[in-house]
Amino acid sequence: MLAPTSTLATELAPGSVALVGAGPGDPELLTLRAWRRLQQADVVLHDHLVGPGVIDNVAASAERICVGKSAGRHSWSQEAIGSLLVQKARAGLRVVRLKGGDPFIFGRGGEEMDVLLAHGISVEVVPGITAALGAAASLGFPLTHRDHAQSCVFVTGHLKDQRMALNWPALAQPNQTVVVYMGVTGLDTITRELQAAGLPGNTPAALIHRATCPEQRVFPTSLAALPATARDHAVRPPSLLVIGQVVRLLARHSVL
Ligand SMILES: C[S@@+](CC[C@H](N)C(=O)[O-])C[C@H]1O[C@@H](n2cnc3c(N)ncnc32)[C@H](O)[C@@H]1O
Repeated sequence: MLAPTSTLATELAPGSVALVGAGPGDPELLTLRAWRRLQQADVVLHDHLVGPGVIDNVAASAERICVGKSAGRHSWSQEAIGSLLVQKARAGLRVVRLKGGDPFIFGRGGEEMDVLLAHGISVEVVPGITAALGAAASLGFPLTHRDHAQSCVFVTGHLKDQRMALNWPALAQPNQTVVVYMGVTGLDTITRELQAAGLPGNTPAALIHRATCPEQRVFPTSLAALPATARDHAVRPPSLLVIGQVVRLLARHSVL
């Protein structure tokens, strides 16, 4: 059963799971409901992307388990995470599954919800601020703007079977902002395919590392120069690529 969303004042029921968005990193960007669930949980399963400042809000009495996966280091399989969630909920615990950003944006929240519902376990979803929104707010550029972008698309640069089968012509449209999650390792392909589909190489672009965190770094560049910029500055995940005219608005800000 999926719990209703208007549950701000309610308790997290024993034997149920809350899929909670931790936001992009800055603990101040947790929602009130996320904070409340962290306080109520008996056990919290979290990703490695969730920073210590957010984890600090978990009740001292709660068990904390890092089930994070990072590139090249798959400590927990998705199946193992699902099994542990089911096991903890069946033990009558109040379980929080804490995921970076929003659980339903490239976060496998949908897959985990399916497993829990298939086992008859109640699930509540607490949305979080996704990395793209955190980055745009933190760096002071809008993702849409009447003069520059009438649409905004979020895509993943990392697909299940390692192939990047994106709809390149749809992404290469003018007056659109494209935000690529998990795109650092596929930068050469992304840059080449977008240009082949007609997006000019001089389209403004930026690499944004650890948005909203103390280690935040931003590298404004152009579409064609994205791979070289990433190499020159040794940009690593977690980072976003933002491509589109709105990136020009970054330059007005002292954060650079
Ligand atoms: C598995 S996805 C999870 C996305 C998350 N559910 C969200 O809504 O933001 C992980 C990717 O999100 C992006 N990401 C997450 N947090 C970020 C941050 N603070 N700064 C930049 N990119 C971030 C990176 O592209 C990273 O590789």
